[in-house]
Amino acid sequence: MMDIQSVRFIKSSPDLKSCPPAGPPEYAFAGRSNVGKSSLLNLLVNMKNLAKTSATPGKTRLINHYLVNESWYMVDLPGYGYARTGKKTRDTFLTAIGDYALHRETLGCLFILIDCRHKPLANDLEFINWAGTGQIPLALVFTKTDKLSAPGLDSNLTIYKKSLAQSWEELPVMFFTSSFNRTGSEEILKFIEKSNESYRNK
Ligand code: GTP
Ligand code: MG
Repeated sequence: MMDIQSVRFIKSSPDLKSCPPAGPPEYAFAGRSNVGKSSLLNLLVNMKNLAKTSATPGKTRLINHYLVNESWYMVDLPGYGYARTGKKTRDTFLTAIGDYALHRETLGCLFILIDCRHKPLANDLEFINWAGTGQIPLALVFTKTDKLSAPGLDSNLTIYKKSLAQSWEELPVMFFTSSFNRTGSEEILKFIEKSNESYRNK
């Protein structure tokens, strides 16, 4: 299991060109507003208030780089799909996220978070399929699993897989987390560690 020895906030950037110089492999967390991205970052590094979280959607508005163990970046992204931010802000966020995900050459994996309680939502599927088409390395994270019973989670997952199978030959890697129950982080950290190893051997 990966030991978290240090975490340093590096920078908040409004767009790709303002991001810190590319170098270490990066792992970015995307998804609808309020899905639990910032909470998951905090869970991964076992810190309560590293990334700002909020019950009100639209909290994270910039691309936030954190350097972990002086060797990889953990990146908190703004959420998409929050109606109340207004179309202009929504478009700005999406452009920044899209540009970052497509053109950040050191991106090791884009984790796309999905609230496990919801049936597949159009903008989630669109985003996942867009990332897939763009050949962005991605993984899915079903969040807030504490809010569902095991059978409830199973049945939602079955529905999700079915709708993904319409456009995916092979389904992406999937993780299940609860920041509330503090579960699921080991698997993600293991995945990141492995990916870091292959990155070093490249
Ligand atoms: P934006 O920055 O607005 O895009 O949101 P975000 O995706 O970063 O979500 P954030 O981590 O701020 O969490 C949103 C809300 O969901 C907060 O009230 C969190 O406490 C809650 N939340 C996050 N993860 C979980 C979880 O695993 N279980 C439960 N029950 N609540 C969660
Ligand atoms: Mg956030």
